[in-house]
Amino acid sequence: MSEAVPIDRQRPTTLPAPLDLFRLLVEGIRDYAIFVLDPEGHVITWNPGAQNMKGYRREEIIGQHFSKFYPPEAVESGWPARELALAEKEGRFADEGWRVRKDGSTFWASVIISPLRAADGSLSGFAKVTQDMTERRKGDERIQALNRELRERIAQLDESRRVIELRTLDLQKLSARLLHVQDEERRRIARELHDDLGQQLAALKMELSKLADAGAANELADSAVASVRNLSYLLHPPLLDETGLRAALHWYVDGMVKRSNFQITLTITPPSFARLARDIETTVFRVVQESLTNIYKHAGSDSARVEVDQQPEWVVVRVRDYGKGVAHLTGSRDRTPSLGVGISGMRERVRQFGGELTVTRAEPGTLVEAKIPLFSMDAGTD
Ligand SMILES: Nc1ncnc2c1ncn2[C@@H]1O[C@H](COP(=O)(O)OP(=O)(O)O)[C@@H](O)[C@H]1O
Ligand SMILES: [Mg+2]
Repeated sequence: MSEAVPIDRQRPTTLPAPLDLFRLLVEGIRDYAIFVLDPEGHVITWNPGAQNMKGYRREEIIGQHFSKFYPPEAVESGWPARELALAEKEGRFADEGWRVRKDGSTFWASVIISPLRAADGSLSGFAKVTQDMTERRKGDERIQALNRELRERIAQLDESRRVIELRTLDLQKLSARLLHVQDEERRRIARELHDDLGQQLAALKMELSKLADAGAANELADSAVASVRNLSYLLHPPLLDETGLRAALHWYVDGMVKRSNFQITLTITPPSFARLARDIETTVFRVVQESLTNIYKHAGSDSARVEVDQQPEWVVVRVRDYGKGVAHLTGSRDRTPSLGVGISGMRERVRQFGGELTVTRAEPGTLVEAKIPLFSMDAGTD
């Protein structure tokens, strides 16, 4: 071949002939190992890239079978020969796998084998191009490991969230139970104060009235009877159980108007306000009681409005004042109750029935609004 002029004998200004150029190209490539194998798989020639990758010198490898580059298990299973057979059959073979260097170290290789055919179609050998993909594989493995770790973390988070939800549910049940027990206890103490201590004071008063000069003691006994009855009713108004919410609220509001110097308008709708479940009536009563007490204690308002509206599915309670407004509210809705237990207690009671309680700045004043579903799934605390 007249074109195959060695590169050092060429004049620098003329381009090498195409085949030389091609050889230069193959020899210049360092990132790919390029071999030519004979039809049985012996190395006929290779580029310096292959020498770099595999660690054998040219004379050590020419004539060797290419299975030298494979790990023993691959050789035992006859894999190298199978690669050639597949390449011959399919016209191309591509694979990734571990390969061995001369020093025994391994690298992750991406391999493409193509059959080389003569003009008559007979097999003259194979071209094999190998790339070292160890770094990419390490990167892939790192990504996979990170993904696995991420999935584990997410699973752990899910698990923690589930545990927290269960605990929250337990706590909610406990708080519902505590509120219920508290109501029952108040009911019991109220009855004992009224029936026991109240009766004894009444008897004492009767005895005193028999005495000729018991004027002052009589008055004291009268006031003690009144105090005990008042205390008992405030703890748990008997009207609440006997007659229902309407009577109990009227009694409570009237008493408060008498004791304080602010005006309270109470509106209960509809006129045919039906009796509700005992726990719901108690909750509505406590919301009104706590809200009015708050107005009395904190609002500096001289009037308040109370509305209780029963709808087919809800009972809505609104208590509004015109005072200085509840502090520390940035938006119109109070999401974080202050340190007091009054507002959070009301909210907890309402939440038990699946309802919601909001405390809103009303400009002027404050609006407490509770919406309680009448037929909630988790109503009832027994
Ligand atoms: N109607 C109101 N007007 C002004 N401030 C209020 C009103 N209701 C509640 N607050 C404020 O919210 C706080 C929390 O109320 P609450 O939870 O009932 O606790 P407490 O009444 O024991 O202080 C009160 O201390 C008060 O500062
Ligand atoms: Mg309070």
